[in-house]
Parts: sequence; structure tokens; C-alpha cells
Amino acid sequence: MASFKLDVQKARSHFPALDSGFIFADNAGGSQAAKEVVDRISDYLLNTNVQLGADYSVSVLSTQRVLTDGPREAAKLFNAHSPDEIVFGSSSTLNLVNLSYGLESDIQPGDEFIVTGEHEANVGPWRKLAARRGAILKSWNPSPTTPENPYSVKLKVEDLIPLISAKTRIVAITACSNILGSIVPVKEVVKAVREEAKAKGAKKVEISVDCVAYAPHRFIDVQDWDVDFCVFSFYKLYGPHISGLYVRAPALQHSVTKIVHHFLDVDTVAYKLQPGGPGYELVYGATGVIPYLLSLTPQNDLRASFDAIAAHEQTLLQPLISFLVDPVQKERGVRIVGEETVNLERVPTVSFIVTGQRPLKSRAIVDFFDKKGGIGIRYGHFYAYTLVDTLAPKLDTDDGVVRISLVHYNTVEEVHRILELLKEVLR
Ligand SMILES: Cc1ncc(COP(=O)(O)O)c(C=O)c1O
Repeated sequence: MASFKLDVQKARSHFPALDSGFIFADNAGGSQAAKEVVDRISDYLLNTNVQLGADYSVSVLSTQRVLTDGPREAAKLFNAHSPDEIVFGSSSTLNLVNLSYGLESDIQPGDEFIVTGEHEANVGPWRKLAARRGAILKSWNPSPTTPENPYSVKLKVEDLIPLISAKTRIVAITACSNILGSIVPVKEVVKAVREEAKAKGAKKVEISVDCVAYAPHRFIDVQDWDVDFCVFSFYKLYGPHISGLYVRAPALQHSVTKIVHHFLDVDTVAYKLQPGGPGYELVYGATGVIPYLLSLTPQNDLRASFDAIAAHEQTLLQPLISFLVDPVQKERGVRIVGEETVNLERVPTVSFIVTGQRPLKSRAIVDFFDKKGGIGIRYGHFYAYTLVDTLAPKLDTDDGVVRISLVHYNTVEEVHRILELLKEVLR
């Protein structure tokens, strides 16, 4: 638990848009960007907006900002061993597509991939790679945690282990669902996968983790987790619209073929997966995320900042979950899609549907909020199409779920305002 209590008002002062009083509750879609980030973007564009790699002084500075500062700071957010293991792309979707092309020549027919059917960004590239190379795709699906609610689903390690075989080559999991809000214990899962794969005689297993929905809430640690690939999007982590991908050094050397121009001498660095430049100002802007996170606690330590974030977020999650699982709301037909519990294995991304005698479309609930104004929430499948499509009893995928997704800059007062509207619409 956090040794330092988050000063929420101080945190909010880094996001001018919050002063308007509008309640941003669609943060799993994208967070607000911290001032530190925006200042760097303007500084880059106003003062160092030239091509990289020339010898004149301004280019030397812009090169340092993009090729040195950007990867160095992103490496800290992954806790990567080296900035050479970091590649930038315009989105996590694109980074994973690029990774799948980079891995293509190291995949053999009959190899097996295991994926979590969550956000399509972490499913489609693997499915297509499997189809191109004659590999087999298996799914690790979530299952209910309580018999009273068939939608209370969660990924369970015991469902993953039987999927592993001597042919397992890639395991691509999520660290946190952008709908269910539950955190996957990555370290534990990876250890179990590697042990089982070894026992069954698998020759080479590489593990990829989608941290897009995890990064705003918890500290990523690719070394401690023992993973080969990891991706997150800065625009969900108080930064600009750009994504970082971690590729472990041995995978860079032995598994990934370069997808950049043939004459670029980048065989041992992650840059081999970065065809063309992502926005330079965005790479430099992303270096503002760490100063913002460090401003949250006096410890000058990212882990301490995330501990404080997690502790505050529990205070947001608690009233929201309590309301939705209250017998009155259960009777009304409210069903949480995801775990019904409040604990540190869950982030304040809360999804639900209204079923039963008087069902309500997710869209109708969000429309009600939109008409009242002042609060941003959304409905749908949120690109976790496979997840929503496989829930049973079946849901209309387009209508999907109502999702309220909070982060540490949200306040308990904001949650109460959201609950007031929920009470009205569920009457
Ligand atoms: C869990 C998860 N993975 C991947 C993505 C894709 O990220 P991007 O928009 O950067 O492609 C998202 C986006 O919402 C997501 O929530």
C-alpha cells in the first residue's frame, strides 16, 4: 500500500482541461495530457523543428531529444534494460503489426500462438501472422468468477496452462482488460507458462504483453516479468498520441528481422522495427510523462507514484462497484461485466449492462448522460470485440457495455455525480 497519499488537487493542476468541471470518465479511451508533455511538444516545434542527423547545432539538439531522450525515458517506463530495446510507433496497434511482420521469418508452420481475445490490436496481428505462416491460433478465454453473474468474467491461469504444448511459440496476453478492468498477474502467468512449456518440450517461447490498459494504473516491469515484447500507448498515460514497444535484446538479435530500409545499420536495436519516423515532437513530448508522474510523490520514484495512484483509485472504485452490486441494482438487472470485487487486482475501469425484465440498451444509458451533459462516458465493444462477442448470454456487440473508466485525477465527488445520474437513469 502507498506510503504517500496522493494530493488529487495538485495532480489535477497539471491538466488545465479539468478546471472546466467536465468529468472525464472515458480515460481508458484516452487520458488528458499533462502540462509537462504539452510544454515539451510546443518547445520541440517552436525551437528544434528540423531534420534529425545533421551536424548543425539545432539538429544536434533535436536528434538528442528524439533519438536519445525519447527512448531513454520510455525505457524507464518499461523498466527495460536498455533504450536500444525501445521502438516508437503512431499507435500500439501499428507497433504490434510491425512486430508481427518482424517476426515472420522466425515462425514455422505448425507453431502455436496463444492469445487473450481482448483488444483486437493484440489479436489481429497474431491471427494474421499465423495465417501467413501456417501457425495455429489458440485463445485463452476469461470465465465467470461467480455463478450469480455470468458476465463476472476473468482470465484464470488454470485455463491457460492446458493450452500450452511442445509447439507453443508465442503467448500474447493482456496485462489488464480495457473492459473488465482486472489486472492479470503477469509475472505469475509468465512463470507458469515458461515452466509448463519447458516441461512439455517447447523449444522457443516468446511472450508479448499488451499494457495499454495497464500503464495508466500500475508500474510496468518487463525485466521482473521476464517478457520479450511489451506495448503501451502514451495517450492513455497522460502523454501524446504515440506508442512505445519494448523488444528484449535477445529477441532483437535472434527472432526479429528488420523491416526498415535495407541500408540502415540497425540490426541489434529496436529501431529495426520502426519504418519511418513517428512524430518527432510526440517522442519528445512523451518525455514529459515521467516528470509528471514523479511530481505526484516526494520519493522521486516511479513505483511510489504508482502506489499512490493505485491507492487513490481504490477510493474511486469502491463506491462505483458498491452501487452496481447493490441488491437493488441487481434486482433492476444491472450486471457488471468483469469482477465484482474491489481490490488492487482491479483498476477503476468498470463496465456493465442492464438486462432482466426492464432491460436498457447501453446506448440509451450513455445518451441519458450526454443529454444531461458534463460527463463523458461511452458504450460499445471498445475494440475488445472478441471478448464482448464471446460473453454468454450473448450481447449485441455494437451496443456492448457501458464503460466508466476513471484514473487518479478523478475525484470521489465526481464518482458521486456519476452515481446520481446512474440512479436517475436506472429508476
Ligand atoms: C487494451 C488495449 N490494447 C490495445 C489498444 C490499442 O492502442 P492504440 O490505440 O494505441 O492502437 C487499446 C486501445 O484502446 C487498448 O485499450
